[in-house]
Amino acid sequence: MAYLTLALAKGRTLDSTIELLENAGITFPDLQEESRKLIFYDTEKQIKLIAVKAIDVPTYVEKGAADIGVSGKDNILEAQPEVYEMLDLKLGKCKFAVAGIKGDTLEKNRKLTIASKYPTVAKKHFERKGQPVETVKLNGSVELAPLIGLADFIVDIVETGNTIKENGLEVVEDIEDISTRLIVNKASYATKSQDINSFISKLQSSLEGSA
Ligand code: PRP
Ligand code: MG
Repeated sequence: MAYLTLALAKGRTLDSTIELLENAGITFPDLQEESRKLIFYDTEKQIKLIAVKAIDVPTYVEKGAADIGVSGKDNILEAQPEVYEMLDLKLGKCKFAVAGIKGDTLEKNRKLTIASKYPTVAKKHFERKGQPVETVKLNGSVELAPLIGLADFIVDIVETGNTIKENGLEVVEDIEDISTRLIVNKASYATKSQDINSFISKLQSSLEGSA
């Protein structure tokens, strides 16, 4: 049988995803924290795991470089890839929110500057509200932007709320709940449907077991 290529995000959700896979009976003996390797194979020699940047998972899957991927809904909403979203893995739960300096309210009568790692998500949110905005794309430490006058507000992920709180910001409005999703390349799903469905049902049973 040919390998299914699975793209996983390096970083905070990797451990819990690996745990979920292990509970589903899919184990990667070579996967060690300290390793700099980026490709791993499962014991059954069915899955080839590639460890990529979280933001790149939708790209790998959309382009078919990976058959399957585990991606945060945040990166799916931002990239809007042409893929099938098959399963909510319910990991990495957090939300998208608009935040600003404590006490600041969203003014309706002027164009606002919004800093975000997710400019598409930000733009769409304010478009829905009919609020004109200009977005500034940042790649991290977004909470700094309102503090140093780079933006009026930010659109970012809020998990515990500690980062915004410790920087004197507060949530102005919630946008959408986020969690990790299983996504599948469309052509792969047509040609490898049996293998992919079997992989998905293993994960599904593991999820139901842990619910
Ligand atoms: C993420 C996100 C928020 C923070 C939310 O940042 O962009 O800043 O975590 O988590 P909290 O509500 O539990 O504080 P990350 O740590 O990934 O750093 P970066 O934005 O600089 O990449
Ligand atoms: Mg951050």
